[in-house]
Amino acid sequence: MLDWSDTEPAAAAPIPAVLRPVPRSKPEVTDHANTGLIDRTGGRVSVDEKRMINCRADVNQLLPLKYKWAWEKYLAGCNNHWMPTEVSMQADIALWKSRDGLTDDERRAIKRNLGFFAASESLVANNIVLAIYRHLTNPECRQYLLRQAFEEAVHTHTFQYVVESLGLDEGELFNMYREVPSITDKAAWALKQTKHLEDPAFATGTPETDRAFLRDLIAFYVVFEGMWFYTGFAQILSLGRRNKMVGIAEQYQYILRDESIHLNFGIDVINQIKIENPHLWTPEFQGEARTMIRQAAELEAAYGRDTMPRGFLGLNAALCEQYMHFIANRRCAQIGLAPVFAETENPFPWMSEAMDLKKEKNFFETRVIEYQNGGALSWD
Ligand SMILES: [Fe+2]
Ligand SMILES: [Fe+2]
Repeated sequence: MLDWSDTEPAAAAPIPAVLRPVPRSKPEVTDHANTGLIDRTGGRVSVDEKRMINCRADVNQLLPLKYKWAWEKYLAGCNNHWMPTEVSMQADIALWKSRDGLTDDERRAIKRNLGFFAASESLVANNIVLAIYRHLTNPECRQYLLRQAFEEAVHTHTFQYVVESLGLDEGELFNMYREVPSITDKAAWALKQTKHLEDPAFATGTPETDRAFLRDLIAFYVVFEGMWFYTGFAQILSLGRRNKMVGIAEQYQYILRDESIHLNFGIDVINQIKIENPHLWTPEFQGEARTMIRQAAELEAAYGRDTMPRGFLGLNAALCEQYMHFIANRRCAQIGLAPVFAETENPFPWMSEAMDLKKEKNFFETRVIEYQNGGALSWD
């Protein structure tokens, strides 16, 4: 039984500064002038006043909608709701505990893959909440960011559930982003782009700071969620295709479906900022963005060599590197950049099938829950 009296605040506790009433500068003025944070004289927001960044219009008025693509992604995310605990882990537990069901190479790749995702989901969520949300000054985009933040929490929950189900060493898995160099290198590269934005003194509004915001969007949406996650999905889904770790593979299918919307939202955000602020997208900045994407592909190739030193059935580091080149060029095209690598074929054409849950209901010969409109989404 809880003793609720313990939860009462101490009588003499000081009131935090943010909760104190706004001091009255002119005590004789009637109450309406003293709301402090609300502009009572500003007019209603019109669509034309809405802007992605540096918007002066009230950010608390969702309607009228300007960016319908953001609202549609919010609805699509809600329609895709799932929880990791809906997926049975019985087959995975039996395989993981069996002596010869998995090779050492497969175990190494699975553990490092889980370790990479376990912390990455939190890094992405923190970037949304602590950096992007503040500087993206549009209510329909913020509505989507709130949904995305929740989905990242569901993804983090997935790794907690996997660790618990398989009896993995939680300290080992959740510290891989600090202790395994090929994972640390990726996390450090991305964090470098977000550290400025998390500084309370940072504000957009100059070409330099607006470009810093764009760099963050490229690092997290295009690279982290749009490139690195995809080789991670390919590793696990490749095992799932061979009927190994089918529970985790099913969870990854759901994560992939969510991430595909996250990625497409990020691309729309970047392109809309470009439309509204063409002066930011200089040839020099485009060169910088292409360098970021090339570096990210190289970091991923190093991670592939580390996680799959010998490769296993249908998958090896060279194929993952080729896939990364294919994906990198695709991402460049999506945000209007010239390709960074020579044209190459997609070595994993089955990945696009794995993204379509409706068409591939029996993909892993396991229970896949029907969702409302997953098949209606466009998977890129
Ligand atoms: Fe995620
Ligand atoms: Fe995501």
